[in-house]
Amino acid sequence: MVRPDNPSREHDTVLIIDFGGQYTHLIARRIRELGVYSEIVNPHAVSEETIRSISPKAIILSGSPASLLEREPPTPPRWILDLGIPILGICYGHQLIAKMLGGSVSKGFGEYGRTYIKITRRDPIFEGLLDREEVWMSHSDYVEKLPEDGEVLAVSEDTGYIASYRVRGKAIYAVQFHPEVSHTRRGKAIFDNFLRIAGVKRTWKPSNLANEIIEEISKKVGKDDKILCAVSGGVDSTVTAVLIKKAVGDRLVAVFVDHGLLREGEAEEVISNLKRVGIDPIFINASERFLSSLKGVVDPEEKRRIIGKIFANVFKEIVRKDPKIRWLAQGTTYPDVIESGSRPLSARIKTHHNVGGLPEDLGLLVIEPLRYLYKDEVRELGRALGIPEEILKRHPFPGPGLAVRIVGEVNEKRLSILRRASRIIEDELREAGIYDSLWQAFPVLIDRMWVGVTGDARREGYIVIIRAVESEDGMTADWARIPYEVLDKISRRITREIPEIVMVAYSITSKPPATIEPQ
Ligand code: XMP
Repeated sequence: MVRPDNPSREHDTVLIIDFGGQYTHLIARRIRELGVYSEIVNPHAVSEETIRSISPKAIILSGSPASLLEREPPTPPRWILDLGIPILGICYGHQLIAKMLGGSVSKGFGEYGRTYIKITRRDPIFEGLLDREEVWMSHSDYVEKLPEDGEVLAVSEDTGYIASYRVRGKAIYAVQFHPEVSHTRRGKAIFDNFLRIAGVKRTWKPSNLANEIIEEISKKVGKDDKILCAVSGGVDSTVTAVLIKKAVGDRLVAVFVDHGLLREGEAEEVISNLKRVGIDPIFINASERFLSSLKGVVDPEEKRRIIGKIFANVFKEIVRKDPKIRWLAQGTTYPDVIESGSRPLSARIKTHHNVGGLPEDLGLLVIEPLRYLYKDEVRELGRALGIPEEILKRHPFPGPGLAVRIVGEVNEKRLSILRRASRIIEDELREAGIYDSLWQAFPVLIDRMWVGVTGDARREGYIVIIRAVESEDGMTADWARIPYEVLDKISRRITREIPEIVMVAYSITSKPPATIEPQ
């Protein structure tokens, strides 16, 4: 049986040791797409105990912003190379294995972006690849000297650097490039080959998880216990609530809080969507409370703090009234779990207040049935639960709502402008058939004005920036190439229907360097 609290007990698992690289989640996702459960740990957490409890069938060492030429580079224990578990090192991982086995690493010419490699020795890891392959590189250190047992498999066309090697007679492989990135043409085939070499069983399929998760929840929760679940209408909280409902029926206490920072018609739409999937939430209109507390606040982290605190108070009041509520269900997903804590080597950018986020003094036990799943896996599970596509395909919407999309003070006037602009953007993208291909698309209201001209009169007005991005998990994102005609239509409608706005701009910066939300 699959237990949501530890899928590695039930499935062959690939352990990814994360040195803080930008693409670590992509590695985990590629492995899961190939039907194998993968888990990310940081190098400090690699102990004999971790290895025993997860019992990985293969290990991958990720990339890193660190350099092996620094004084104390992050390094896993040396014994992981002697366990007989197949290993694949990527980028920093490639250099790390070489160094740990007695080779050397030096500073070289940087190779960034699209690069060509030549496969110099045929090996099962490169089955199905051409002799010359397009790959994605991002490094300046390189392996200068291989360990004694090292055998070069590929070199970089331009620099001649070792692009891949293996340890003779062992299933230890390394690639300087990033097979997890889609720009590496046949990257997925390399992972596929590696999993085959490692003899890993491919049993991971999110759509099969529903029954096991439901069973697990009902076992965990006492017969009379109630479970509180904050719902927002988004994919994660809806799938969570449906799983809980199936497990404990009416002992689910679903709560929808309107904080006054929602989009036009959103509260009604969410309630009716939830009813369609059998969830009938308690509706709490707390707009007044939120908006009055946000008055005059401009600092985004302060906005998040205030919003989080009021949410917590609202939940406390509910819990106080019903002593049977002993559990709090949250739609936390795998990137949230990894982002908040287990990645000490990567920097924290924003406080992501997860709606219904755990207020510690609430004194409830926590259930997070999605904590091992990526967003697309949550969607897949939701589909298996019969949740309609419109709900599953809704763009993510941040917990603090429009407050993070208004730069400067949040007030009714500015909220109203942003709501109308959001409606136009969403409608036009749906009309053009583009909505579903985007991760998110929304307007941002900034705290500067632009001079407009209507007739002969000068009139200062608001500026909105349209942000539309494509992404796999929100951790990295590319700005969306929306056709000019669609942008033109959106811009004209916005300035015509919302006279307070005189300038519409389009954001053409990816993440990194910019984040998706403006603050
Ligand atoms: P950023 O702006 O960090 O956003 O690139 C990545 C993803 O997270 C969402 N986001 C939030 N979600 N509370 C949330 O629940 C927040 O405070 C918050 N800030 C950003 C964002 O919409 C994107 O999908």
